[in-house]
Amino acid sequence: MLDVISILAGSELFSGLARDSYERIARHLKPVRFGRDHVICREGDSGDTMYIIVKGTVSVSSDMGWGQRELDRKGPGAVVGEMALISNDVRSATVRTLEETECLQFDSESFDALLDQDPALAQRIAKIMTRRFSTLVHKTSNELLGAYRALVFALANMTESRDPETGAHLERTRNYCVLLAEALAEHEKYRDTITPHFIDGIYQAAPLHDIGKVAISDSILFKPDQLGPAEYDRMKVHTTIGAAMMERVIKQSGAELFRLANRICLYHHERWDGTGYPAGLAGDAIPVEARIMAIADVYDALLSHRVYKSAMTMEDAREKIRAGAGTQFDPIMVDVMLANISRFEDIYIKYQDEETS
Ligand SMILES: [Fe+2]
Ligand SMILES: [Fe+2]
Repeated sequence: MLDVISILAGSELFSGLARDSYERIARHLKPVRFGRDHVICREGDSGDTMYIIVKGTVSVSSDMGWGQRELDRKGPGAVVGEMALISNDVRSATVRTLEETECLQFDSESFDALLDQDPALAQRIAKIMTRRFSTLVHKTSNELLGAYRALVFALANMTESRDPETGAHLERTRNYCVLLAEALAEHEKYRDTITPHFIDGIYQAAPLHDIGKVAISDSILFKPDQLGPAEYDRMKVHTTIGAAMMERVIKQSGAELFRLANRICLYHHERWDGTGYPAGLAGDAIPVEARIMAIADVYDALLSHRVYKSAMTMEDAREKIRAGAGTQFDPIMVDVMLANISRFEDIYIKYQDEETS
């Protein structure tokens, strides 16, 4: 005879409940026995039953796209299949016994019965399961988000090998963008557009601004002198090429971040007075994120040494930005940037180019 009470008390899902709760749950549990190599749940099937393992070991695996791989092994006290019980959805993994296995089975019918008899207890169980579920979702989505962010930055860094602009430039410009965006968010004109979500987006997308340079030849990218007219025209195309690359990513993923990146790639060389490229947009017709990027990009370029020019002093760079208000740059953005200029200078100092530090 199984000692169901101590099994429940020792299980990962139900530990910590009162003894009479265990007795009430126990009435709804059905002991089941599986032989070796038996599939308890199959990924993709719909299911509403969970199993508390009493004896034996199971393997939890999933189809990774390139093959079935084991994610975990579970033994006595572990619970499997509980996600389907709360979400009434398809199984997210396959559970197979590795030896003779005994379980206690609990399905949605039992759960409904418990809900009738003891709503408070049923609710408590639902809460425990939901918490477990959301912890898992949170952990998984955090991991995915981290990987996604790292990939976006790695993609942006691809230009580094083919571009006189360095990884430190990408790090600095994304930080100038955040700083400027945060300061602008206080301004009544931008209060509604610049949200925390926007700021996070610009931080992620800014490093992609020159991704289109991967398609520009070395003879133009690394030319030590000023470019000739034809070469300059070719160089300008990095905006539309970058935007087209982002367009393809949008088609594949639909991710909002790449819409922001698309506009940054396309419009970061537009000028406030309409004399920029590639579209010749003027004033507020230039997307906000591209206006922010333009000022961040130029400011950093002024302070940096390039093959065709030497670095400016911080004072000169500041004056150059001031002079660009209303012609090259959004005048409000220039005001806000100059009001916070020491914080921009701190970023420049913090992320020095490796070769010059
Ligand atoms: Fe550019
Ligand atoms: Fe740049």
